[in-house]
Amino acid sequence: MKILKQYREDVDKFIENLSQNRIFPKTFKEAMFYTPKSGGKRIRAMLVMLAGSMFGAKKEDTLHVASSIELIHAYSLIHDDLPAMDDDDFRRGQPSNHKVFGEAIAILAGDALNTYAFDLILDSALPDEKKVKIIKILSHAAGVGGMVVGQAADILSSESKLTDRKKRWLVNFIHKHKTAKLIQTSVECGALCGNPNKDEFEKISKYGLYIGVAFQIIDDCLDIVGDEKKLGKKKVDEINNTLTYPKVYGLEKSFEMADRLKNMAISRIEGLRDAENLVDIAKFIIERDR
Ligand code: IPE
Ligand code: IPE
Ligand code: MG
Ligand code: MG
Ligand code: MG
Repeated sequence: MKILKQYREDVDKFIENLSQNRIFPKTFKEAMFYTPKSGGKRIRAMLVMLAGSMFGAKKEDTLHVASSIELIHAYSLIHDDLPAMDDDDFRRGQPSNHKVFGEAIAILAGDALNTYAFDLILDSALPDEKKVKIIKILSHAAGVGGMVVGQAADILSSESKLTDRKKRWLVNFIHKHKTAKLIQTSVECGALCGNPNKDEFEKISKYGLYIGVAFQIIDDCLDIVGDEKKLGKKKVDEINNTLTYPKVYGLEKSFEMADRLKNMAISRIEGLRDAENLVDIAKFIIERDR
């Protein structure tokens, strides 16, 4: 997909340019950009860019938002890898942030990326009412309405004894919040850089939620069947007693559930103009090995 390659280059360049800004101390700046510059699949950024282009957004505006969401995502990874959380020494094929810079600086690098992301959206040329809307949904999805509470529920769940019924409910809550909300919000924020109507926004939003849950189910499955080299991270779910879909439903059923979510996502955007790339991304999420 040529356009996706272009978007990836644009986002990489945007983040590279940000890392040229003056931030003191220099070592702290290195820690801040170590993880965002180490690549990753850039799925969230691509969703922002694609949704933006579907609804007539200016590329420069969506680029600000796409890069901001990648910074928030990178912050979530830095904190997720800390010894107090998943204790993972590898990320994106290299030592995790705290292994290079120490825990205190890694925590602060995450904090800085989180706040910097919102600063950046305000720096874009989007009209003020769009900025406010985007910051509202993004701050909610990254925090108490999504990622942070999902991560908290994830950590707390590994300690508790639960009935099977409660486990099924909780694993869905965790996946929706820790991962799907930010993915859904990527699609929504991209769309909001342009001008979707209410019906289009709802369709694309549902697509985002479904692929978001599927994304984390596959992440769980890869933590069992994947190759650490390709994944670029250690498989730690078993060690950490993390509540995952394969743990609750078994591997085969988990793959089936992810596949069903992918189909639901695709059927939501049927009929939307220029949605082919979103269909491809939904398929990639299921078929990926990294
Ligand atoms: C990893 O996300 C964390 C999850 C939410 C599962 P990605 O698999 O998108 O990580 P990168 O950005 O490609 O490294
Ligand atoms: C993390 O889920 C989701 C985040 C919000 C970072 P995981 O803990 O399964 O992500 P990986 O496997 O470390 O990438
Ligand atoms: Mg985790
Ligand atoms: Mg983890
Ligand atoms: Mg995982």
